[in-house]
Amino acid sequence: MKVILGYMGCGKSSVGSYLSEHHNLSFGDLDDFIERRENRSIKDIFQHQGEIYFRRIEHQCLKDCLKQQPYDVFALGGGTPCYANNMELINAEQNVTSIYLKVDFEILTDRLFNQKEQRPLIDNITDKNQLKDFIRKHLFERDYYYRQAKHLIDVSEMRIEAIGRQILSI
Ligand code: S3P
Repeated sequence: MKVILGYMGCGKSSVGSYLSEHHNLSFGDLDDFIERRENRSIKDIFQHQGEIYFRRIEHQCLKDCLKQQPYDVFALGGGTPCYANNMELINAEQNVTSIYLKVDFEILTDRLFNQKEQRPLIDNITDKNQLKDFIRKHLFERDYYYRQAKHLIDVSEMRIEAIGRQILSI
């Protein structure tokens, strides 16, 4: 199983869907898995139980997915690598390859400014410069965990077809 990780908006789900449509690979998303199991949205979980609770469930669901390995390609949530011992668990699995999709923070800001609604960590930031500052710092903190992935692809300037090809070649 190929595990795709990286910051919100880096294209984890897009490239996963692309690979499933064009290359006949099965694709799953940890956020979808959590929403199905909890029977409510991520936004709702953050709103009513808070982030610490969400991270506990996320960790449990990740462990279950790693045990079952039901997909060829599996996308994590943007924060998954940074909590508990999630990266250790992922990298300890023999049949799992972790891949970090790295994107420049300015590109992420442009993308995420129009896609904040379902993302509880940034949905209250209304000013674009504030969002850029937040992402710059947040990405700086998280990059340490993301880099524990076995592979890194800088996808800032890449089209989805090329990203898909690189992932397939790993
Ligand atoms: C989060 C990213 C989200 C989702 C949750 C928390 C994060 O996933 O798991 O809102 O901490 O970066 P995406 O990266 O798919 O947006």
